[in-house]
Amino acid sequence: MASSGVISGSRQPALSAAQSLELRPWAAADAPVFLGAYQDEQIRRWHTRRPQSEAQVREWFDDYRQDWQSATGAHWAIARSDGEVLGRISTRGWNFDDGIAGVGYWVLPAARGAGVATCAVMALSTWALDEIGFCRLHLDHSTRNHASCRVATKSGYLLEGCAVPQCWSGAAQ
Ligand SMILES: CC(C)(COP(=O)(O)OP(=O)(O)OC[C@H]1O[C@@H](n2cnc3c(N)ncnc32)[C@H](O)[C@@H]1OP(=O)(O)O)[C@@H](O)C(=O)NCCC(=O)NCCS
Repeated sequence: MASSGVISGSRQPALSAAQSLELRPWAAADAPVFLGAYQDEQIRRWHTRRPQSEAQVREWFDDYRQDWQSATGAHWAIARSDGEVLGRISTRGWNFDDGIAGVGYWVLPAARGAGVATCAVMALSTWALDEIGFCRLHLDHSTRNHASCRVATKSGYLLEGCAVPQCWSGAAQ
């Protein structure tokens, strides 16, 4: 397993995904599209922490860089090869002692239904399991979020932890 020190001293990589998609670190120029995403009803429904301004988005991007440097998480834009942002994916809550990390995402409305989230989750999961060496990844979301449940299932995550109604977490490997 990679050590947190190795990650802290490295550059956050871009990851290739299927369908000519790339996961790349966020850039300041992405702030308007990132902020605009939170106007979408579905993103607002499932993501209760929302930025209020482009300036705040850029602060979040700084926090994302800090997460990488402190080896606590990684955040990417899901983008086409021409750079257009289609969504967001992140892994956070890194626990190097137990080899556990969490995964979260959203996709812009116009890009939904084409497998973008599924491809991104698979690319991130492969990197986190094979390159970093985590042994368990979890997605925490509501079982009422059917689209997200489908993403989890299609990406190979297993349903578990349904003791609390409407809540579940999946695990890969
Ligand atoms: C959940 C979400 C990330 C899925 O992204 P996506 O790129 O559309 O995912 P996929 O294309 O892999 O499709 C997954 C499922 O979405 C559903 N879906 C298909 N077309 C859709 C559309 N136009 N709009 C919404 N959902 C659609 C289907 O159930 C599909 O499963 P299927 O392929 O078995 O039919 C996206 O709908 C989203 O951002 N939703 C709002 C925020 C959210 O729920 N985030 C996750 C919280 S943990």
